[in-house]
Amino acid sequence: MFLYKKNSNFAYISGHYCLKTRNIIPVMKGRTEIVICLGSSCFSRGNRKCLQIIEKYLKENNLEEKYFFRGSRCFNICEKGPILKIGDTIFEGVKPGEVAGILKRSLR
Ligand code: FES
Repeated sequence: MFLYKKNSNFAYISGHYCLKTRNIIPVMKGRTEIVICLGSSCFSRGNRKCLQIIEKYLKENNLEEKYFFRGSRCFNICEKGPILKIGDTIFEGVKPGEVAGILKRSLR
């Protein structure tokens, strides 16, 4: 599964190949990763909406260059989903209404 939105900083990446740039993703050069699970369970239980909220938040706060936002396949912890990972921290049971608060607390 690939997800790529034109005119967006978001790209779903399989392995380390980026559909947006069509290149192998290099090391992130110090940019913290925000990874949203796009597995079917998380996607259908809220991450579809969370994806849009995160994109909007990063854009409105001019954080697109500071953080690398990408999608991921299933984390294999579906029962704890929807899953969002920021840096080394995994957030479980994320609800769309909570995402902005998580971002405010986690992103500096
Ligand atoms: S679909 Fe997200 S952890 Fe499985």
